[in-house]
Amino acid sequence: QTCKGVNGLEKVVLREVRSCSAEVYLYGGHVTSWKDEHGEELLFVSNKAIFKPPKAIRGGIPICFPQFSNFGNLEQHGFARNRTWSIENDPPPFPVPTSNRAYVDLILTPTEEDLKIWPHSFEFRLRVALGPGGDLMLTSRIRNTNTDGKPFSFTFAYHTYFSISDISEVRVEGLETLDYLDNLQERNRYTEQGDAIVFESELDRIYLGTPSKIAIIDHEKKRTFVVRKGGLPDAVVWNPWDKKAKAMSDFGDDEYKRMVCVEAAAIEKQITLKPGEEWTGKLELSAVPSSYYSGQ
Ligand code: BG6
Repeated sequence: QTCKGVNGLEKVVLREVRSCSAEVYLYGGHVTSWKDEHGEELLFVSNKAIFKPPKAIRGGIPICFPQFSNFGNLEQHGFARNRTWSIENDPPPFPVPTSNRAYVDLILTPTEEDLKIWPHSFEFRLRVALGPGGDLMLTSRIRNTNTDGKPFSFTFAYHTYFSISDISEVRVEGLETLDYLDNLQERNRYTEQGDAIVFESELDRIYLGTPSKIAIIDHEKKRTFVVRKGGLPDAVVWNPWDKKAKAMSDFGDDEYKRMVCVEAAAIEKQITLKPGEEWTGKLELSAVPSSYYSGQ
């Protein structure tokens, strides 16, 4: 079911009608490619991405768990993105079956070493599915399997890097009038004033209590990405711009122009699970010609 990817890391390739496809690395449970019906890549992966543990892959869809950013004592964005996941052939049934789609089920459970840094037993199941129209769906189910009776809390993000024509041609809609925490201003809280988010310099914000749908409109490409999410109230918008780009060793100096991160997340309010409880967080991505996108 798997084949060899960069540096011999194992990956799974999903295919749908025409040239729609997706690739998932077991390293990180990380989606690194999502192609439309013409075979065009829709996710950004850096030319300098290092496909080698323990560095997370720069681009695609890293999974931030059990901690987003440095909101806690763990390493930045938690450890799920730099662990090797396993394929699960017969997972417990999903609430909504995915039977007519190409999909793969992965699972991550903690090692002895992980339990030393985060002393909680969990099962993290990730299903990556490609819809018949080429939509990409990620469903995460996280279960507390602690036997000591203790609950645990976590923050989470699907850290999606979208491929765009040019950052100056892009706007993000659906977050207007919302409150956000500005990562560049000591995480102070502000209210978005613009009609849409446009990019003129480094931007790193956590929008709070967002609608379940966000649009990323690429004027030059005449393409709109629609992000639909469930169980994930927040949304991070990030572009490193030139200085931060230069400071990242696994990112090209000019690559900030070709990417934007819009991340479905649960950050402001931690998710808490009692033993036996399970949480589900969903992400659904589609790419449509902007002329089809009505904003509904
Ligand atoms: C974003 C954060 O989600 O991820 C940024 O808001 C951070 O602050 C970025 O710089 C990249 O993080 P990393 O650990 O992948 O370099």
